[in-house]
Amino acid sequence: MAHLQEAAVKQINAICDRYAEETTPLMMILSDIQKEYGYIPLEVQEIVSARTGISVAEIYGVVTFYSFFSLKPKGKVVIGCCLGTACYVKGAQNVIDKFSEILGIKAGETSADGLFTLDALRCIGACGIAPAVQINGKVYPKMSVDAVPKLIEEYRAEAEKL
Ligand code: FES
Repeated sequence: MAHLQEAAVKQINAICDRYAEETTPLMMILSDIQKEYGYIPLEVQEIVSARTGISVAEIYGVVTFYSFFSLKPKGKVVIGCCLGTACYVKGAQNVIDKFSEILGIKAGETSADGLFTLDALRCIGACGIAPAVQINGKVYPKMSVDAVPKLIEEYRAEAEKL
């Protein structure tokens, strides 16, 4: 979406119009755009702002606050390590550090080959099975540092086929 094509602009305007009757449409608009395009860069935020009258600053604040929105394209495999309190006390920092070490990226980054994105998440509602990791929507319970290398290789093999 680096240079938005006319069709993409029309589609984004159509998404905005879908919620024109809502009093607080922003989350719905951004969710639809995230699902449709996989990310919400600044130029898209400007289109949403022009269509809805909501300031770019407010839109940017929402996009950067919630981890399920993204300013940049995400990898084929999106790894979310929960760093909420329950997971943290069970060693989640060591788990995310291991992902980071093997993938060569920090939380919030995508690998150069476009295969992996690593995210640090707040509580994902799985505190009873802490530390929890979510990969492409699937939750892995009681994740250990030792389990990380094999998991990465499994997902790498799948992602390279795509
Ligand atoms: S703190 Fe990690 S799932 Fe709740």
